Amino acid sequence: MFVSDCLNVNEKGHLTIGGCDTVELAKRGTPIIVYDENEIRKNCRAFVKSIEENYDGKGRVIYASKSFSCLEMVRICNQENMGLDVVSGGEIYTALKAGFPAERIYFHGNNKSYEELSEALNAGVGRIMVDNLTELETISELAKEKNVKANIILRIKPGIDAHTHDFVKTGQIDSKFGLALETGEAMEAVKHILTVDNIELCGVHCHIGSQIFDIEPFEHAAEVMVKFIADIKSETGYEIKELDLGGGFGIKYKESDKPNPYDSYMKAASKVVKAECKKYGLEVPFIIIEPGRSIAGATAVTLYTVGSVKEIPGIRTYVAIDGGMSDNPRYILYQADYEVVCANKASEERTKKVTVAGKCCESGDLIQEDTMLQEVEAGDIVAVLSTGAYNYSMASNYNKLRKPEVLMVKDGVARTIIKRETYEDLIKNEI
Ligand code: LLP
Repeated sequence: MFVSDCLNVNEKGHLTIGGCDTVELAKRGTPIIVYDENEIRKNCRAFVKSIEENYDGKGRVIYASKSFSCLEMVRICNQENMGLDVVSGGEIYTALKAGFPAERIYFHGNNKSYEELSEALNAGVGRIMVDNLTELETISELAKEKNVKANIILRIKPGIDAHTHDFVKTGQIDSKFGLALETGEAMEAVKHILTVDNIELCGVHCHIGSQIFDIEPFEHAAEVMVKFIADIKSETGYEIKELDLGGGFGIKYKESDKPNPYDSYMKAASKVVKAECKKYGLEVPFIIIEPGRSIAGATAVTLYTVGSVKEIPGIRTYVAIDGGMSDNPRYILYQADYEVVCANKASEERTKKVTVAGKCCESGDLIQEDTMLQEVEAGDIVAVLSTGAYNYSMASNYNKLRKPEVLMVKDGVARTIIKRETYEDLIKNEI
């Protein structure tokens, strides 16, 4: 009935998530983001199982924590035996504070600072994903100083143009991430890296983009990357042992979205990996995948209170809510699609075309334009669905709005995992 299995409607006609009545939850104050723990774990397990089934367990699922990073989320990923993709000192700090084993942390980023690299080596993170040779020199220097060997994975631009929003494409040559294959830049880098002290080249990585529905670009990426491993072997004699194929699996935001089951991506890519390895006489490498959105995205909803409904005859009807681009900047950034439901009238038909507007002083602060909603009035609770990935993690304090409370529900019981910010929090670094 809804975009996610964890959502339902109860006998009062209220939207529920994980067995909790969202109208009751909204009484704690809005905006509020609510995650369903069972749904998160279900997604984690689907990916872990796909590594078991398609690669005989010789691989690892690393959760892209940029999609939603907090102590509880990291704990869940640890309990589900996953690795963690982090992109900053802050995400490393969060992971370590949550007790995540450093050796399963993979450190990404196109411009890691000296301090971040030093912290990463001190903590003993499992792999540093190297973006460029300037960074490599810094890592080598730091590793020498600390008398350790840095285990690295090299980020490659495989030259694949995935069909998704321009801002979330990363595999094509015109990208700020990684080194290009087709210009020979990546091969040159590999040859150089093999001569650098205190560096162990463990693997190669690519990530072609985000919110991708087609299977074919993932197959193509697998083919290109295995060929690169084969080329490295034939040109240098060195066999790369790890292949990281990134994340980017599309999820359901709108009813009309038809994502493939995650397993179908794994199955298709693994077939290509195995066939290509056979063709080139290579061992199948240890496979790493980096899902973020597909773990967290469809497992949460954001609840808002309607403040007013403004009809502009012949033009549109604005429904004003008590959050906006400060907790969900994805519409203003990418014109992202969402389903919007009146939580206290969830069993009624959505008959009214409305534009859901946030409370920031910015005309573009919309959550959705011309979307169907039940007839709503001030005081109603509006739920925006599939807001688990890149919402809280991209939230800001624009207009000095406080970041919302975040709840985790499990089998009908809710607990706070992130407190709502206070006014005092907003000025705590101000002098
Ligand atoms: N690996 C790498 C290297 C990445 O850059 C990303 C996402 C992922 C994995 C995870 O991709 P996912 O499975 O979540 O699609 N803020 C945008 C999305 C930016 C994606 C950044 N990188 C949005 O809200 O749509």
